[in-house]
Amino acid sequence: MVKKLIISLICSFIFILPFSCKQKNEETQIGKDIDRKWWKEAIVYQVYPRSFKDSDGDGIGDLKGIISKLDYIKSLGVDVIWLNPIYSSPNDDNGYDVSDYRGIMKEFGTMNDFDSLLKGIHDRGLKLVMDLVVNHSSDEHEWFKKSRSSRTSPYRDYYHWWNAERGKPSPRYSLFDINHDAWKYDSLTNAYYLHYFSRKQPDLNWENPKLRQEVYGIMKFWADKGIDGFRLDAFGFAAKDTTFPEWPKGYEKNFMKYYAMGPHLHDYLKEMNAEVFSKYNVMSVAEGAGNSFEDAHNLVDADRNELNMAYAFEAVDIAKREGYDLLHFKEVFSRWDSAFADKGWLSVFLANHDQARLVSRFGNDDPAYRDLSAKLLATFILSMRGTPYWYYGDELGMTNPGFTKIEDYRDMPTLNEYKHLKETGGNIDLFLQEIKFSSRDNGRTPMQWDTSSHVGFTTGTPWIQTNSNYKMINASAQEKDSNSCLNYFRKMVRLRKENVALVYGKYTLLDKTNPDAYVYTRELDGKKFLILLNFKNKNVTVDPGIDLTKSRIIISNYMTASAPGSLKPYEAVIYEVL
Ligand code: GLC
Repeated sequence: MVKKLIISLICSFIFILPFSCKQKNEETQIGKDIDRKWWKEAIVYQVYPRSFKDSDGDGIGDLKGIISKLDYIKSLGVDVIWLNPIYSSPNDDNGYDVSDYRGIMKEFGTMNDFDSLLKGIHDRGLKLVMDLVVNHSSDEHEWFKKSRSSRTSPYRDYYHWWNAERGKPSPRYSLFDINHDAWKYDSLTNAYYLHYFSRKQPDLNWENPKLRQEVYGIMKFWADKGIDGFRLDAFGFAAKDTTFPEWPKGYEKNFMKYYAMGPHLHDYLKEMNAEVFSKYNVMSVAEGAGNSFEDAHNLVDADRNELNMAYAFEAVDIAKREGYDLLHFKEVFSRWDSAFADKGWLSVFLANHDQARLVSRFGNDDPAYRDLSAKLLATFILSMRGTPYWYYGDELGMTNPGFTKIEDYRDMPTLNEYKHLKETGGNIDLFLQEIKFSSRDNGRTPMQWDTSSHVGFTTGTPWIQTNSNYKMINASAQEKDSNSCLNYFRKMVRLRKENVALVYGKYTLLDKTNPDAYVYTRELDGKKFLILLNFKNKNVTVDPGIDLTKSRIIISNYMTASAPGSLKPYEAVIYEVL
């Protein structure tokens, strides 16, 4: 179920905020019809602030901690930092429940710390994208407190209320609630309020123009500070039919179809673009890409003036506990690439804070293959068309921690689902096996900096356990090893930066029916790269159908790459075809 929740989350909302860059030199044309933008050429590095670096020993990562690691981030060669929410919050959902959009979460520091962080980022030539969580707020936000207080409050219409004398509203599915009921009865005014996520995350009423202006004001506040972009959390859910019509029985099995892309979503995005994006040099990406390619294009095609890039969940949802089918994986990536070959722009990613660890899901975290498969996944993400998003720690090959007891977990929806199963007599053993693979907490353990106290993350007690494999996997050891995952990641980043063909070049899938290897070319203006990736733990044969006698290997995750035609376990190699 939790997997379903996570999948649903992922599938729905990814609209990423655009970096709107107006620098002339970045908009020059290469190749025919290629419109260069800084946010297309950028590599985004996602920092989960709670887990990155703690500076004051309270066991919770913070802004000063991030500041102390900016040189590390810069050394990776990435361009943009995406920070998960750092606003004031009671932390029901680790900051995705905001109680003051202009304040900083006390565990993370102060506004002065934020200003220093932003300066430190800009001084290093990096950019900052912030999460914007406005499908819902916290129930501890002033707006909600006032909205709740009386039916005649001027803030009543900032949220969705249904007076109880009208009877129970038609059912709505909550992703995070213990009973999955998205309507919560509030006796104070004898009415129900809507919460697609937890009870502490009431949905904001986007149909109210006053609320929309409040949000644009908040966005301008941060844009005026100089941030470089927004990621619109769960925004696909924002627009709603406020008559709350009855949906067919069983709608909850496919609730995304009903939740994503509500009636006026495009109008709101156009308005947001006109009010905010168009006035600043910011990028925009929404979580989710709607329910179809048409939806995704309508969100991001440049002539529509909505968002910059789509962030679609279909691929990231493929990995299951029992594994995944590489043919399916290739088909999904190829289909999305071809749908965006001429128009619009995509994000490329396989991990984020709502996912378990990259190498544990899409690679192989057995010590025999971890390093190789982590390098293979970096080769893949950084050689595809689209803007790559990289999640902290994946450059080290960090793995799932292997939690075995419910007490190890911190994630609210995981704990709620556990309670639900307990109450309804569900299969707890199965659930524990399931979350060991899929819970979001797998991807939230502290960054493994070194072998000092609590992996160099904190001098206090970490808010979530550290991974016990830190002696084998940590940044300090990998710094010293020229062959480490970390240094391979840096090489791959450099390769992408030096070869614009890896950003914009045409993608062609080769050896299509090969069930074990992913083979493709990227080409632009006479430059051509062949990428060969063995996703399996065995030797495999490949048939790219390209004469490689006149070619050179530009990167390989083995000391010596295999001869053309075969690949060793998890081998990744890129040729420049001359
Ligand atoms: C998005 C976030 C997720 C959060 C949810 C509710 O899906 O990525 O972490 O729990 O929205 O805000």
